[in-house]
Amino acid sequence: MPKIKAFIFDAYGTLFDVHSVMEKCNELFPGKGESISGIWRQKQLEYSFLRQLMGRYTTFREITKDALRYACKEAGAELSRDAEEELMASYLKLKHYDETEEVLEKLKSHQTAIFSNGSFDMLSPLVEQSPFASLLDEVLSVDEIKQFKPTPMSYQLVLDKLGVRREEVLFMSSNTWDIAGASSFGFHTAWINRKGVTMDELGVEPDYEYRDLRGILEHA
Ligand code: LAC
Repeated sequence: MPKIKAFIFDAYGTLFDVHSVMEKCNELFPGKGESISGIWRQKQLEYSFLRQLMGRYTTFREITKDALRYACKEAGAELSRDAEEELMASYLKLKHYDETEEVLEKLKSHQTAIFSNGSFDMLSPLVEQSPFASLLDEVLSVDEIKQFKPTPMSYQLVLDKLGVRREEVLFMSSNTWDIAGASSFGFHTAWINRKGVTMDELGVEPDYEYRDLRGILEHA
């Protein structure tokens, strides 16, 4: 494998735990936190895929709000404006995974960036409140080109912004659809399979699979 020049990270599920909102969900809707959090993430992704296919792009923040509204309706939970604001605010303070700072510290001699479907109004506050904001060279959002991952055009943004070739990129994500999209585009890929799930049948396989980010340091 040619020398990796850029280590690129998906955000939600890879560096930040989307289910750290469960606590707030349970606080507001006792006993329904797990189901609301699960449906919320499932619909957030589904809506981004469907809007991409329909050509009805809107920001990931709007999609996240729409998905939350659906999840609460589905769970029979009355979502007040205040509760919606509280839950959306919790998305700006998601817990990061423990090994993230240590790994980014060890990648300081390489280019590192987040590349996310998240819009900047979600990503910037989230990254700023983390202890590793200064360890990232860039935070890239598909909102710049209004094309969600896993479209090939979305991954092209990474090459355009960082000035690297696709074979010089190692892309990390915990999301199988994102790993498939990045592999299909031509990045080297490291699937951060935190929950030991099964890779989707999408005609492409990750180059590497690790249980957490530490495994990628063998490519530094
Ligand atoms: C991201 C979510 C969709 O792009 O995983 O960060």
